Amino acid sequence: MKKNLLLAAVCLTATAFAQKFENLALTPPMGWNSWNTFAANIDEDLIKGTADTMIANGMRDAGYVYLVVDDCWEAKERDADGNIVPDPVKFPHGMKALGDYLHAKGFKFGIHNCAGTETCAGFPGGRGHEYQDALRYAAWGVDFLKYDWCMHGTADARETYKTMRDALHKAGRPIVFSLCEWGQNKPWEWAKDVGHLWRTTGDIMAGYDSRQRWESGWKLILDQQYTLVTSNGPDGIGQYAGPGHWNDPDMLEVGNKGLTLAESRAHFSLWCIIAAPLIAGNDVRHMSKEVHDILTDKDVIAIDQDPLGKQGWRFRAETGREIWVRELSGGDWAVCVLNSGATAADLTTDWSAISILQREYAVRDVWAKKDLGTTRTPRTDRVESHDVMLFRLSPVK
Ligand code: GLA
Repeated sequence: MKKNLLLAAVCLTATAFAQKFENLALTPPMGWNSWNTFAANIDEDLIKGTADTMIANGMRDAGYVYLVVDDCWEAKERDADGNIVPDPVKFPHGMKALGDYLHAKGFKFGIHNCAGTETCAGFPGGRGHEYQDALRYAAWGVDFLKYDWCMHGTADARETYKTMRDALHKAGRPIVFSLCEWGQNKPWEWAKDVGHLWRTTGDIMAGYDSRQRWESGWKLILDQQYTLVTSNGPDGIGQYAGPGHWNDPDMLEVGNKGLTLAESRAHFSLWCIIAAPLIAGNDVRHMSKEVHDILTDKDVIAIDQDPLGKQGWRFRAETGREIWVRELSGGDWAVCVLNSGATAADLTTDWSAISILQREYAVRDVWAKKDLGTTRTPRTDRVESHDVMLFRLSPVK
């Protein structure tokens, strides 16, 4: 009897811990991460300066609230008690002070570590220290943990990430848990109850269809989403996403050298179609007005953050053109037409050929902020190479 009571109490406490972690990511998380541009060249001045800029340029208020310090923030060794410690030169005031700074400015504080013995850049990983590290992160005021998968040896992914989840729950501070396992063990099938977002593929790089080592340009990353499960369409990889748990095709390269402005706009549009977390990865302190305007377009962001939380999919791919669709709340649809060809082209969108559109809709050009009549009339748009037209369709009353 006593044993049963004790078990019930333990289960209740576990549920109470877990409840704190629900509803943390009802829409895909938005923020900024240091890795894509800065890699190891990070310090507290960079993070603080980025935060200050994101207030001044409107990014924070556009929704980019998680500031994530990626790999290379740590000292090379844990301290004598096994505690994880920051690099004293890069972060002389420590991580609690950095978290306090970010919180005071209206941001949330994100940090990176790894489920293996070492991070990919060779700093101490979390394996065997999960409960100790979770307490430390909670004490520093961490709100988001990106947990990588280097040096995992023979560890089982699901069990390993569950251990860290349990450690975070036990530490008691609500933390968004971002699994960075690169889709190697089909996390979409099991990670919903473990974390809030999970990487589906390898690392992104600043390019359209370039490739180097394990990194690919954003179009290849996008295509890879369609090799992960046998079905395309609404029952493809997108069936696993929804409010609270998201497929993560990796961070944004918008504005980074290697992409044309058109490619940045298309990358951003398509990440919004597939309900991706919007984690900027450029140097926001030095970006053009055009790049700023892409990242902060509230109508495009609204597609990503749509409360229905349904991930979009590729409706059709043909030579030189792809059509992507996403169901939105209120009966709306987003339709994105990509010029996947190497030159500018006149692309005709015949709405009657998009079979999911079963009625008449008013058509709005989301980037140009123009109403374009209704779906009764096909339209033709001149689209630059690797650029998109992004339409929002609303039912005609
Ligand atoms: C892995 C991740 C990247 C980044 C690096 C840091 O490659 O997938 O996003 O965090 O590690 O070393």
